[in-house]
Amino acid sequence: MKNKHDMVVVLDFGAINSQAAAKEIRSLNIYCEVLPYSANAERIAEKNPKAIVLQRGKACGEATFGKEPAADLSVFNVPVIDLIDSEITAEALDKELAKCEINRDWTTEAFIEEAIADIREQVGDKKVLLAMSGGVDSSVCALLVHKAVGAQLSSVFVDHGLMRKGEPDEIEQVFVKQFGVNLTHVKGEERFLKRLAGVEDPETKRKIIGEEFIRVFEEEARKAGKPEFLVQGTIYPDIIESGGDGGKKVKAHHNVGGLPKDIEFKGLVEPLKYLFKDEVRKVAKALGLPDSIAKRQPFPGPGLGVRCIGELTKAKLDILRDVDAIFRKAIVDNGFEGQASQYFAVLTANRSVGVTNDARTYAYTVALRAVKTTDFMTAKFVKLPMDMLEKVSEEITNTIPEVNRVVYDITSKPPATIEWE
Ligand code: XMP
Repeated sequence: MKNKHDMVVVLDFGAINSQAAAKEIRSLNIYCEVLPYSANAERIAEKNPKAIVLQRGKACGEATFGKEPAADLSVFNVPVIDLIDSEITAEALDKELAKCEINRDWTTEAFIEEAIADIREQVGDKKVLLAMSGGVDSSVCALLVHKAVGAQLSSVFVDHGLMRKGEPDEIEQVFVKQFGVNLTHVKGEERFLKRLAGVEDPETKRKIIGEEFIRVFEEEARKAGKPEFLVQGTIYPDIIESGGDGGKKVKAHHNVGGLPKDIEFKGLVEPLKYLFKDEVRKVAKALGLPDSIAKRQPFPGPGLGVRCIGELTKAKLDILRDVDAIFRKAIVDNGFEGQASQYFAVLTANRSVGVTNDARTYAYTVALRAVKTTDFMTAKFVKLPMDMLEKVSEEITNTIPEVNRVVYDITSKPPATIEWE
């Protein structure tokens, strides 16, 4: 996107919500990028900013005040908007930026058009490989690359048998039938569960799933004729937070990594690397992806493998899939989708005594979890209404005989993590 749009540079002074101003500015159709406040004049000059916004001060949630930008900003001869005393709202920013001469041309449609052109230019007539997870990032990447270079794209969906109910079918339905994407659906359930048999330790499960994934992916890459390019669904917060564009190093991402290291690629195609998550969801909608994908909650790479405590068997995973589907539907039907960043069921290793139709049962306890988070480093459990939980519990125990107890997880992170394993 560089230099195609008038740009505002946001200087980040290390506030907790350091991306807030940038997101609000983007919502005004103004393109902006985030640089650390320590960026020197040369780095800022590269961006050729039309205005500079300083996101600092108490109102911005910054912990230590009094920091000054490293560069002398007067040399740019552009308006400098200091948010030191103002709240970060689109309205407040709109008022300030209206005063400047800035093209408001950052739209979803413009992004799609430019992203497709950029991919075409980068890839030329070479082949491209993509790992499809069904998540919103890889889905949007797949459609953009498909629109750009069509059959030069080989996308691979590895079904490890740890997906949620109906997901593999939906992926096939949407990408192959609806959009005609060149997608290979690897039905790997048996091979993954075979390798996982008898394994109880969560980290060992993760490791096995990750290794097997890479193995399958490598086999498919070979079959696709060793494509020169690999698509990655990197998004802008990954870049800002991992310091790639000069940002601060905050955390190692769970969701990055995990793709083959020994396949040599000529280059990475990263069409989303300047987008925030909400923008990716807007692009998904604009491209015609269904809400189930456009609004899809984050789902861990090892899938239900970390939500089924202890050994993984098909029988246990099927129970979990059914419970999870009931809970997720209830969340959506009751309008809590927007309030929960992640919501799911866990099949615990606990079995307890119960009674059904006067007969004693000894069946599984399932836990339901719904959390709200912005950064996934901390999270609050969602205060779902008791009536709703009661109905969900009844539906689960009435329809799934292997479950006789339902609990709702009311711990936040910390001290609990979001996933149970
Ligand atoms: P925790 O459980 O650590 O999760 O609070 C934080 C976020 O990371 C996701 N998560 C994973 N994602 N592979 C992934 O790709 C994993 O092994 C993994 N473990 C946790 C989790 O769903 C949440 O969004």
